[in-house]
Amino acid sequence: MDHFRYRGNELFAEDLAAAEIANAVGTPCFVYSRATLERHYRVYREAFGELDGLVCFAVKANSNLAVLNVLARLGSGFDIVSGGELERVLAAGGEAGKTVFSGPGKSAGEIRLALAAGIRCFNIESAAELERVNGIAAETGKIAAVSLRINPDVDAGTHPYIATGLKENKFGIPAEQALALYEQAARLPAVEAVGIDCHIGSQLTSIAPYLDAIDRLLPIVETLREKGTPLRHFDIGGGLGVRYGGESPPRPDELMRAVAELFRGRGLEIIIEPGRSIAANAGIFITRVEYLKSNGSRHFAIVDGGMNDLLRPALYGAWQDIIPLNRRGGASRCYDIVGPVCESADFLGKARALCLEPGDLLAVRGAGAYGFVMSSNYNSRGRAAEVMVDGDAFHIVREREDSAALFARESTLPQAHPAS
Ligand code: LLP
Repeated sequence: MDHFRYRGNELFAEDLAAAEIANAVGTPCFVYSRATLERHYRVYREAFGELDGLVCFAVKANSNLAVLNVLARLGSGFDIVSGGELERVLAAGGEAGKTVFSGPGKSAGEIRLALAAGIRCFNIESAAELERVNGIAAETGKIAAVSLRINPDVDAGTHPYIATGLKENKFGIPAEQALALYEQAARLPAVEAVGIDCHIGSQLTSIAPYLDAIDRLLPIVETLREKGTPLRHFDIGGGLGVRYGGESPPRPDELMRAVAELFRGRGLEIIIEPGRSIAANAGIFITRVEYLKSNGSRHFAIVDGGMNDLLRPALYGAWQDIIPLNRRGGASRCYDIVGPVCESADFLGKARALCLEPGDLLAVRGAGAYGFVMSSNYNSRGRAAEVMVDGDAFHIVREREDSAALFARESTLPQAHPAS
């Protein structure tokens, strides 16, 4: 359920006409709905029921400070993958103590920053990283809480670029090496192994791969308990899919119910790291039609938003729904919705039946996750504005980048050549 609905022929974001926002802020822009974000977070929170659990929003999906702040106010934890994301969480009022740090390539500087902030846990992806965290924690007189990310070698059944739980992927520690690494952790003076985690991929549309992954990790948890070194938490990662088009992913409460069965009576806290399923359908991307043109049988709507703004269609061939902000009567045509960037991959959608005129506004749905965060300045295009709607008010939560911002950090060479 989201709060982007038609009233008559006009698309509304909560209680505001989306066109009103686009006309005030300009296009392209991302528009987020606070009520939708809150709703999605609460569905997870409530789905825990009597289970002890923490929702750690995956910051990579949408790291705007306003988005993080809305979630932090509800008590959300965060899953980060860089020092930059940690700084954002702290700036947005998030708690370090509810933040887990994932990712296979944490730098020494990032580890220092996270230790100083007092994060909840490092999700460790290799023996070398475990040694590095131990070394830095020892230097600073701290004990680092760690969890080992185990690669369960299960097929998440998703796009190969966003599958992460197979042996061939760079992520995690092979299950066969897990116990040896927990033993190594026990010998190291400045780390404490408190958990286990996995993340098998993104945009998962069935529960089975989660259950398979958990099944493969539970024997490790049991062996550690028998050895007298019990873990405190089990982090099942993120990855629950959303409905962009024809998919029918399980709801968060369905996932949590199934997962709860496996954890009953084990005394483990459950952590989950959802990104997309909280943010994707809490955002739309608004773009304006600049030109219409036809090349023989093919019709193009050239819009002012491109692959630099919303990369998913170009990068993964992703399908996201494209709808008009104002539905007009008349015959529709089959359009490729393409951007102004000089690449043939620059499309937002192909073969969409729409009734369009130049100047019309379109919304790409499902753009609240992996939208703005993956945008770039390619073709020297300033990044889009971000707006959050809250009831009948909207707030610009990131200004559009102007041309001064584009090259503010660049410089030319000095006038005189040093040799002349
Ligand atoms: N935890 C870890 C360790 C992750 O690597 C990810 C996503 C998540 C949680 C959150 O997964 P989610 O609930 O959002 O599926 N750019 C791609 C998605 C990449 C996901 C990377 N990792 C896309 O646009 O589809």
